[in-house]
Order: sequence, then structure tokens, then C-alpha cells
Amino acid sequence: MQGLSLDFKGVEPFVSNEELELMKEAVLEAHDKLENKTGLGRNMLGWLDLPDKITEEEIEHIKQSAKRIQNQADVFIVVGIGGSYLGAKAVIDLFENTFSNMLPLSERKHPQIIFAGNSLSGKYLRNLIEYIQDKDVAINVISKSGTTLEPAIAFRMLRVFLEQKYGITGAAERIYVTTDGYNGLLKDIATKEEYDTFTIPEDVGGRYSVLTPVGLLPMAVANINFEDIIDGAMFASRLFNERSIESNDCYKYVAYRNVLYKKGKDIEILASYEPSFRYFIEWFKQLFAESEGKDSKGIYVAGNIFTTDLHSMGQMIQEGRRNIFETVININLDRSFISLPSTEDDQDGLNYLADKPIDYINKQAFLGTVKAHIDGGVPNTIINLDDLNEYNVGQLIYFFEKACAVSGYVLGVNPFNQPGVEAYKKNMMELLKKGE
Ligand code: PA5
Repeated sequence: MQGLSLDFKGVEPFVSNEELELMKEAVLEAHDKLENKTGLGRNMLGWLDLPDKITEEEIEHIKQSAKRIQNQADVFIVVGIGGSYLGAKAVIDLFENTFSNMLPLSERKHPQIIFAGNSLSGKYLRNLIEYIQDKDVAINVISKSGTTLEPAIAFRMLRVFLEQKYGITGAAERIYVTTDGYNGLLKDIATKEEYDTFTIPEDVGGRYSVLTPVGLLPMAVANINFEDIIDGAMFASRLFNERSIESNDCYKYVAYRNVLYKKGKDIEILASYEPSFRYFIEWFKQLFAESEGKDSKGIYVAGNIFTTDLHSMGQMIQEGRRNIFETVININLDRSFISLPSTEDDQDGLNYLADKPIDYINKQAFLGTVKAHIDGGVPNTIINLDDLNEYNVGQLIYFFEKACAVSGYVLGVNPFNQPGVEAYKKNMMELLKKGE
């Protein structure tokens, strides 16, 4: 069932039918390249039919290991950077209680979940090691290449901690590895130490890997119904494969964003009025920025949580340089069931909102802002989710993956490599090896 729909009314005034028609050819050509596997990076298209390919055996492995982790750990640490952690963090944040890590285990029903290895902060690692001293810990180290410095450093710190606490064999029972099936230092270590190991398919890059064990194992530990996410993505893989921009909203979104880019709107803000979307937006930013930003081209992707950021970025969006367009995620069903109480004396003058759901107030902010931004010259596309559930989030994930790949081809870049990321690594390694 379709749980996601797009509303283009707020972008139509900024793009003529002729402009859209001209972009249509490029989008359909990009579709053909993906379908026929004739485009750049054609050996990295495993994500296209990933939801169909996951086997019962893999699902069972994920479920069994997640259960073991839940039984053995107070704290579960997911070690990874970029595409190796953002998808899991995004989905867990969407479905967890906002204060999950502060709740007692009886309410949480799974270990605390903490992410590490996504920076080189000594403060973070020191605080983490101090925090877990008297806790039972399990870790999932995730790295496709198996050589990325940030997770490698966190892994070494945590492995030493685990081996000191549980001994080498005890530690081995608490280390879960997700990596390439054949290559890399991490694969070698996992094989030698006989860690419980999950494989990232060869033809799936980091930022397209959320529907592999990279994302699914941490989700399972958080008791998220990851099979519904896979089902939603599978549904979307059919829905967004139609060779049309008129009836395929994913391709229409790609067409609009590329016309806008050509007209000088080179910043896209993905916004949500729900703070638990913060890391979903980070996942989106990583997906698009690493895929499109090359050969001196690309839309700069940014993210905002409203209404929070209306009190900072809002001014820039409303009246700053007119080079921005917005894509806004809107959730139709209110599951918070909380309304504003009335008070007898109405000291704060808010009784005119008494008994109104907070979500209703948030919705009026959303509607008012969309109108203000469109009036201010900022095109708005709305992505409506009829409910925030796993099935719909699976659709949303696939929607963006497909849109990103097609958009990259429209732009004329390879959306599946990231040569630019090597520049900082090269300099850093030279400096580290000099050891001054
Ligand atoms: O999307 C990508 O390929 C990157 O963001 C990687 O996920 C990130 O650099 C981490 O790489 P690895 O999993 O090899 O440690």
C-alpha cells in the first residue's frame, strides 16, 4: 500500500511546463541507464533490488544475533562512519522513544544503543570508555573497506576494553562484524578471531547499504520491525520504476530539482517538523552530497528541523539569497496524542489553544511556513507520509535512493563513487606517518 505521496503545488509556480518537458528526456535516459546497467558505476547497482534479494537465512541470522546482543549487553555500541552508521541511526531515532537511552531497561526492552567511530574526538572516546566501565557491552563494528581510520581507532579502543574485561574468548562473543565478504583488514580479523560476521554485498556502496545488515542488525537490536522496512522498500522499488515523470513522483521530483538547479537554485534543504528526523536528514545529506558533489557540479544539500531552525536559518530562507529550494517531510497521522491543557486564569494567554493537539499547532506552523517561503521565492515540494511507520519509512528510503541515483545520472556524474573523500585522508595519513 502506498504510504508516501508528493505534493508539487509549491514548486509548480517556479518551473514552466516547457522546462519540465525538456528535463523529461534526461530523466528517462537516466532510468534506462539504471535499468540496462549501462551508466557510470554500473557495478554498484546491487541496492536497486536489494529488498527482493534478502534471504530468509539472512533475516534469521540478524534476528538471532540481535537476540544474543539483547541478552548479553546493557550497552550496544555501533561503530562506523558515513554510510556505515547513518541509516541505522536515522531509523532508530525515528522509532525510539526520544529519551530511550535514559529509560530503565524494563521500559526500553533492549540495550542502550550508542554510536562511535564516526569522529576522531578524544573527548567522545574517553567519555565512552569511562561510561561503559561497569556495564556489559557488545559492539557491532561496521566498515565495508575495513580500513577506515575513524571506526578502526574506535574498534581498537573497544576491543582492548572488551578483552581486558571478558578475556579474549569472552570478548569474541561480544564482537559483531559487518564488512565486505572477501577483502579488507576487518574481514581478516573477523575470520581469524571467528567473530559473528555479516556481509555487505560487493555491489552495494556504503551510502546505499541501510537495507543490508549494516542498517538491519542495529535496527533489530532496537526491536524495530525491519522486515516491514524491507517490505516498504520493495513496494517502492516497483512504484518508482515506472518510466514516466507524469505518474512516477520520484522521477518528477528529480526533474523539478534539476530544473531548479539549472535556474540557479543550487541549495536544497530537506526539512521536517519532527525532531526525530534529524538523523534521517543527515542520512539524506550524506546520500546526495557524496553521490552528486563531483566534477564541480551538484546541488548543495542541507537540512533543517522546524520550527527550531526557523529561529535561525528561517531568516536566511525567507529573505537571503534566492538560491534555495525546500523539500519538506510531512506526517499526516498524529501519534503523540498530547494536547495543551487549559488553565483557569489563562495567565500566559494561551487558552485560545486549550485542548488543541500539539501536533495541530505544529501543522499550522508547517502550513504557514510553506506559504511564507513560497511567497518569498523558495519552491517547496512536500513529501506526505500518511503515518510514521516502518513500512512507509522503507518507501521513503527507497524513494531517496532512487532519486539520488537518477539525479546523479541527469547531472552527468557517477553517483556511486566518492573520489573527493580521499584528499583529506591522504594528507592526514602523510601527517600521521611523519609522526611529528
Ligand atoms: O557512502 C560511502 O561509501 C561512505 O560514506 C562510506 O560509508 C564511509 O566512508 C565508510 O566507509 P567504510 O564502510 O568502508 O568504513
